[in-house]
Amino acid sequence: MSDIEEVLRGIVGPGHVLVDPDLRAAYETDWTRRFTGTARCVVRPRDTAEVAAVVRACAAAGVPITVQGGNTGLVGGGVPDRGEVLLSLTRLSDLEPVDELESQVTAGAGVTLEKLQAHARAAGLDVGVDLAARSAATVGGMVATNAGGIRVLRYGSMRDQLTGLEAVLADGTVLTRLAGLAKDNTGYDLTQLLAGSEGTLAVITRVRLRLVPLLPARAVALVAVDGTEGALALLAAARSRLATLSAAELCYADGIDLVRAHGRLSAPFAEDYPAYVLLECAAHSDPTDEILELLADCDAVQDATVAGDQVGRARLWAYRETHTEAISAAGVPVKLDVCVPLRELAGLVAELPGAVAAVAPGARGIVFGHVNEGNLHVNVLGAGEHAEEVTDAVLRLVAQRHGSISSEHGVGRAKVPWLELSRSEAELAALRRIKTAFDPDGILNPGVLLPVR
Ligand code: MLT
Ligand code: ZN
Repeated sequence: MSDIEEVLRGIVGPGHVLVDPDLRAAYETDWTRRFTGTARCVVRPRDTAEVAAVVRACAAAGVPITVQGGNTGLVGGGVPDRGEVLLSLTRLSDLEPVDELESQVTAGAGVTLEKLQAHARAAGLDVGVDLAARSAATVGGMVATNAGGIRVLRYGSMRDQLTGLEAVLADGTVLTRLAGLAKDNTGYDLTQLLAGSEGTLAVITRVRLRLVPLLPARAVALVAVDGTEGALALLAAARSRLATLSAAELCYADGIDLVRAHGRLSAPFAEDYPAYVLLECAAHSDPTDEILELLADCDAVQDATVAGDQVGRARLWAYRETHTEAISAAGVPVKLDVCVPLRELAGLVAELPGAVAAVAPGARGIVFGHVNEGNLHVNVLGAGEHAEEVTDAVLRLVAQRHGSISSEHGVGRAKVPWLELSRSEAELAALRRIKTAFDPDGILNPGVLLPVR
């Protein structure tokens, strides 16, 4: 056993330093199975003090660290590259009582979204962010990657929920800012700087989040449209008329076919249509009539089915939410998460198949996403050895259409070579200066977000 592993055992206890390859394996490959690497060991601290001691020990030994939450990220940001200490935060699962006066809660980085939702709901409140990986995604990882999900339309992404955090810097210093003040103009906003920094500036150990009203009445509509333009027309109508709109999701016929085959789901409509939009409204009183009125008036609607009860809503959500699982069951996809201004969305969707076919003949693209944000998840199956060319082709199209190469998943390891498509040289230089100021020796998540120096 090497010195650093002995030191780490002394900090977290012998049972929480995993060196056996079989025990490390689940941490070394990401959810998509596309990104994999070798960790020197996996270390599992239980609180902030242990995280700080681990970071200090690694810094003293010059050993880099890969930080990991629920390992549900989709861009390889939480898996090791070559021989880092993998710092798993899942044991930081303390959850404080909900502060009902402030409508906020403080949670350990390792608390899963599902646990946080149950906790908030028991107090009559809810979490503003929701996403399909809720049972495994941890709030620390979600803040570190500024996760988005299905309710960004109404409540924003993870950074919009954040009122404070606690984090360990690269030298082991602990920053604590958990008062959750609604107004706090005292200089640089370190909380917001660390949100979305993908573990490259500090290790987030606790987060303070604002909560939103628990809305008991929900209605979901799955709407058939004639394509992307139809989806955008429906979105515009929904945004102007539905004050209670909380989700607007887009998928296409090929994705629905895959999901149906995977989950043995029946067809949503008697006929097939080119595209589908799922709308959800949430309120204190039943919003079904509001949705029905909109659907009756909107020319873009080809057909629609609406559910107000929980079982019916879940049945409609399954057509959208099981895309990720169904795609993964069909192979290891190249997953790209992009957004463009809404005026560019239909053009981008139309040119994607040709762009993919030109570099990876026979590959198959499945597209779905969060239409309100112009956010498409482009999943390419069967790209084989052409994964890089597919990534390059798609991301260049996105850049030409003034979009972002990462809308909500982050940069991770997957998109580092393409960051310059979304960030100017001046911005990249500023990012590098911030990284150097926080982590001068480059021990936190090397190779994630920015190239290794
Ligand atoms: C989603 O919106 O379902 C997630 O971002 C997951 C994915 O892109 O596969
Ligand atoms: Zn998404």
